Order: sequence, then C-alpha cells, then structure tokens
Amino acid sequence: GGTLTVLGLESSCDDTAAAVVRHTPGEMPDILASTVYGQTDLHAAFGGVVPEIAARAHAEKLDVSVKQAMEAAGLGFDAIDAIAVTAGPGLIGGVLSGVMCAKGLSAALGKPLIGVNHLAGHALTPRLTDQTEFPYLMLLVSGGHCQFLLAHGPEEFTRLGGTIDDAPGEAFDKTARLLGLPQPGGPSVEQAAKSGNSKRWRLPRPLLDRPGCDMSFSGLKTAILRARDEVVAAKGGLTEQDRSDLAAGFQAAVTDVLAEKTRRALQLYLAENPSTPTIAVAGGVAANLAIRSRLQEVCAEFGVAFTAPPLALCTDNAAMIAYAGMERFRAGHSDDMTLTARPRWPL
Ligand code: KG4
Ligand code: ZN
Repeated sequence: GGTLTVLGLESSCDDTAAAVVRHTPGEMPDILASTVYGQTDLHAAFGGVVPEIAARAHAEKLDVSVKQAMEAAGLGFDAIDAIAVTAGPGLIGGVLSGVMCAKGLSAALGKPLIGVNHLAGHALTPRLTDQTEFPYLMLLVSGGHCQFLLAHGPEEFTRLGGTIDDAPGEAFDKTARLLGLPQPGGPSVEQAAKSGNSKRWRLPRPLLDRPGCDMSFSGLKTAILRARDEVVAAKGGLTEQDRSDLAAGFQAAVTDVLAEKTRRALQLYLAENPSTPTIAVAGGVAANLAIRSRLQEVCAEFGVAFTAPPLALCTDNAAMIAYAGMERFRAGHSDDMTLTARPRWPL
C-alpha cells in the first residue's frame, strides 16, 4: 500500500491521548500531532488511579483531544484513512470510552476501525521511532507490565519471561508514596535518586539467583517500606537525604534486575537464533535515564544495537496506537462495530 494517515486514540489508564500519524512505506513515520491529557492531578488525593474518576475524565476529554490533534495536524477528517483505538488491556471504563468514541467517528466518517492492543502499541514503538526491523527483542516495562518479548511481526510476539508479581512502574509509584514524593512516582524517584547514596541500605535483587528472565519486584517494595519505617522509628521522620538514599537504593536495585535479566533474555535469544537482534525498550519506565544507560551498557557488552524511544513516546501516548493500528491495517486487519473493550488482553 501507499501513504496512510491514521488517527489514534488512547484512554486505557490515566492519560487521554489522540494523535495523527502518517506513513509512507520505506520512509520514516511522521507524527503529525500527538496530544496527551494526564489525569495525575485528579487522582492525587486518592493515592492511586481511581477507575471511576478516570473513566469520566476520559469521556470528557476524548472529543476535545481528537479536535486538538486534528487541528494541530492541520487536517480535516477526509484526510484520515482509518481510526485506531486502544481496545485493552486497561481500566475498562477508560477503554470503553475510547472504543465508543472511535466507533462513533468510524461510523460517522465511514472510515475503517482498528482495535489495538495497548501493549502492542508500546512494543511497536521502536518501529515508529527508529524503523527497527523484525525480529527484535523488546523489554516492555511500564506501570502495569514488565516482560521480555520477541517481536516477529505487528501481531506476533513471543513472551520470553516477565514479572511474576508487580511491575516496576507500580513499584516506582509505591516507593514515591512511601517517601512522600509526588506522583507519577517514576520521575520523582529518579530525580530524588540523583543526590542519593544507593549503597546505604542493602536491598534485595529478587530472582537474580534463578535462571531465565522472570522477575519479581514486590519484595523490593517491602524492603523499602521496612527501611523507611526504621528511619522513621529512629528519627521521627525522613530527611531530604534519607529520601534520596532510599530512592537511589530502590532505583539501583530495579536497574540491576532489569540489566541482568536483559543479559539472560539476550542469551536465550542467541541460543536459538543465528542473527544478533536489536534490543528495544518501551513503556513508561523506559523513560528512566539511569535504566536506559545501563541497558545501553549491556547491549554494548554484547555488541548489539540498542534503541529507546524519546521520553514522550515511552509513557502512554496515542501516536503509538495510531502507528500500531496502521501496521495491523497494512497487514489486512481491521474491526467492525462488534469490537469490544477488553480489561485483560495478553499479547
Ligand atoms: O506506559 P505507562 O505510561 O502506562 C502504563 O501502561 O503503565 O507507564 C507509566 C509508569 C508509571 O508507573 C510511572 O511511574 C513510570 O511509568 N515512569 C517512570 C518514569 N517515567 C514514568 N518510571 C521510572 N522512571 C521514569 N522516569
Ligand atoms: Zn502503557
């Protein structure tokens, strides 16, 4: 096929996003517009994302986001070839809002509707940003997910391993709450860690002693809770330095686990494949610069290429959904009005 222009919608967690992506085969995909409305402030008082509040906010912001994305792209709807929307996995109210909005647009405009798996959106981002060729090895690491995937094609992924309990982003968010740092926890813990001593506490690196590339992060969360409670019991509260040291210790432990398990995933890949893969990272936690640079070191060690999307395309966005939808569409797939919102949807 030739040039395609796709409107994408994303509303599966706490960001309402719309984007327009244009792509001509053989050329770099072009993000003509990408808007993201974060809901962090709406959920701040509750210590986590409240599904009902999230769903309402998505319902209110989706049409506004679409309008803004179309204006920013400088296009009318006649220039759009298809509507792509996150159909899961995620908080069902938000996913439903997006799917209903996309169905309305598709019906009114007479344009094809494409349901996209949110995880495929993250996992295909290296193709959007870097034209990474299949197959590649992907570490998808976000607020709700953590897995090593072998990406063979736009809808073909093999899971090599992943977390057996929490996702690292969730652990970053929990750690931030324990330390009294703002949400989302990833960026605030990363910032606090800059002036911290990561060796002040001996924190666990769960499952590093086991073969394979499964991971675990819940024990680390508990260890941070205990270390914090010890300090609070001894001094009555946390100083700025205590916060930084705990943040640095936590981030170093997560980084060590991700780096070592990436080595293992790479070894698993190399044992079965003749070629060296590109290693790609995606998802919100991939925005962490300490983690990115450690993964880059691991890749350099093995002499394999490394790609990480720009920070704004690591965290949730609709450009990745538009692009993943375009890849599905080019493969000859689309949906109809029977498209359903799926709270769970493994790749
Ligand atoms: O991909 P994403 O936007 O949403 C999910 O699909 O989960 O990821 C959000 C997660 C949050 O837990 C957030 O704290 C984390 O990504 N995150 C980070 C950073 N920026 C966002 N974690 C570590 N370091 C960061 N700089
Ligand atoms: Zn995500």
